[in-house]
Amino acid sequence: MRKIIFDTDPGQDDAIAILAALGSPELDVLGIVAVAGNVPLHLASTNARRIAELAGRADIPVYAGAERPFLRPLVTAEHVHGETGLDGPDLPPPANPLREGHGVDFIIDTVRAHEPKSVTIAALGPLTNVALALLKAPDLAERLAGIVLMGGAYFEVGNVTPTAEFNVYVDPEAAASVFASGVDITVLPLDVTHQMHSTPARIEAFGKIGNRSGTAVAAMLSFSEVYDLQKFGWEGAPLHDPCVTAFLVKPEMFEGRRVNIEVETGSALTRGMTVVDYWGVTERAKNAFFVRSGDAGAFYALLVERVARLP
Ligand code: BDR
Ligand code: CA
Repeated sequence: MRKIIFDTDPGQDDAIAILAALGSPELDVLGIVAVAGNVPLHLASTNARRIAELAGRADIPVYAGAERPFLRPLVTAEHVHGETGLDGPDLPPPANPLREGHGVDFIIDTVRAHEPKSVTIAALGPLTNVALALLKAPDLAERLAGIVLMGGAYFEVGNVTPTAEFNVYVDPEAAASVFASGVDITVLPLDVTHQMHSTPARIEAFGKIGNRSGTAVAAMLSFSEVYDLQKFGWEGAPLHDPCVTAFLVKPEMFEGRRVNIEVETGSALTRGMTVVDYWGVTERAKNAFFVRSGDAGAFYALLVERVARLP
């Protein structure tokens, strides 16, 4: 079983990523740390607990991490995810409290408490907590098995500005610091998440499972679809963060290559742009595995199968 810590700003797509992981016997979710991103921290940490409880996993510790990015005012995305961040399904408020202590310390203590190279961070939001953990405990760079993150783009360029993807845009300094850390990083960028359209038939498949988690996922996807239909004119919305879970469970579903990735922090115009040396035109050291494409049919089949194992 692969040991995972989720760092997340739920977010309907974050929620689906976590639910699919909790339904995956290959993954052992050690904890969930919330970060400010799609919504402010108090909502992200509330949503993380609602998701764990929906999956019948109130035992999974949920911590709050950073309240704002390194240097910049927080940019949120209620226009995409709704006022709560998790609009769509009818989920009760969480019954369990947040764990005491800071989420960044949970990450550090948990990685140090396990065998070297046995814990992976699955990062689904701005990289503030992950960067803070690596700055506070540089030994984590050696101890982590890796970081698998949703963020950035190359061919698909940007979704929050013409050149930046939301998670990297919100805290570009944190992202730049993570890419410079030396950790083994896998990136699921917009290039692959924009291939994973939630068509009406795919949404219906979750509803048809007949369990409460499937019903909630169908409601989350239906909510997201409305925004993306208006924005892109696509049938169905791209599904971002669950690509991280699918990659952790079935990497053979995806294709990519090792590249150098740097993050633009200086320019106001291109803030948060991921500068991907996809064609190897520089001598910069390769610091990440960049996933370019994936099998959307297999991806949705996997998600449905894993959500079906939940209550
Ligand atoms: C990312 O931004 C957030 O809105 C989603 O949850 C995802 O992590 C996509 O750009
Ligand atoms: Ca997210």
